[in-house]
Amino acid sequence: MADLTGRTALITGAASGIGRASARLLAEAGATVVCADRDEPGAQQTVKLIGEAGGAAYARALDVTDGAGTAEAVRETVRTHGRLDVLAAIAGIMHSSPVLETDEADLDRVLAVNFKGVLHSAREAARAMKEQGSGSIITMASGAIDTGMSGLLCYSVSKAAVVQLTKTLATELGPYGVRANAIAPGFIRTPMTARDDATAQARGEEAMARATPLGRVGDPGDVAGTVLFLASDRSAFMTGQILRPNGGIAMPW
Ligand code: NAI
Repeated sequence: MADLTGRTALITGAASGIGRASARLLAEAGATVVCADRDEPGAQQTVKLIGEAGGAAYARALDVTDGAGTAEAVRETVRTHGRLDVLAAIAGIMHSSPVLETDEADLDRVLAVNFKGVLHSAREAARAMKEQGSGSIITMASGAIDTGMSGLLCYSVSKAAVVQLTKTLATELGPYGVRANAIAPGFIRTPMTARDDATAQARGEEAMARATPLGRVGDPGDVAGTVLFLASDRSAFMTGQILRPNGGIAMPW
C-alpha cells in the first residue's frame, strides 16, 4: 500500500528508538535508507537489522549540530543514491529542569540539536528536493507543544520551533512539489523515556496509560507508521500539518 520502491530516505537519529523503527519500516516498504546518527555503532546495528530483513540501508556517522557536516551528509546521499525522496529528521535530546534552574547553556544545547539540527538537514534536503521537484520532509516535534509541561522549557521551546520551521518549509516549498509535515507523538517507550529506576518507570508508564484513551503508552512502531504514511504518496495532499500518534492523550483542534 505505501510503496517506497526506488525511493531514497535519509533518517537522522536512526540508531535508536523512533528513528530505528522508522528506518526499518521505510526499508520494509522498499526504500533505500541512509541511517544517520552520532551513535555510529547504533546506526550500523540498525543497518544490520534492515539487512537481515532483506532491506537496503547504509550507516552514516553524523552529528546534526555540525551544520556543514549535516549538509554534506545530505549531498552525499544524493550523490550516492541519485535522489532524495524523504528526510525524516528524528534526532533529538531531552532536557528537564525547572525554569528557575535553567541556564542559557542548557537552552543552547537543546536548541542546537532539536532545532538547529533539524534546520541543518531540512534546509539542505529542501535544496535537493526543490531541484528534483518532489520530496517529503518529516520532522519530529512532541506532544509537549500542545500544553505547558513542568520542567520542559528547553525541550518544548525547541519542538515548537521545529513546528514553525516545518510550516515555513511547507509554505515555501509547496509550489515545487515538496511537502513538509511534523509529528507530535505522545509518550513513547524508548531509551529517551527510560528511567534507571524500574519501579519509577512502571509507575510513570501506568499513570500515562491511565490518562490515555487507548489505555497504553506508545512504542516506536506506533510513530514509525506515521513516518511511513508521510513518506509515501498516501499523504500526497498533506503538507504543513502536525500528526499526533498519541493514543488520544491530547486532542487539539
Ligand atoms: P532516542 O534517545 O531513543 O533516540 C534519539 C537518537 O538521536 C539517538 O540515536 C541519538 O544518538 C540521536 N542523536 C541525539 N543527538 C544527536 C546529534 N547531535 N546528532 C545525531 N544524532 C543525535 O529517542 P526517541 O525517543 O527515539 O526520540 C526520537 C525523537 O522523537 C526525538 O526528536 C524526540 O524528541 C522525539 N519524541 C520522543 C518521544 C518519546 O516519548 N520517546 C515523544 C515525542 C517526541
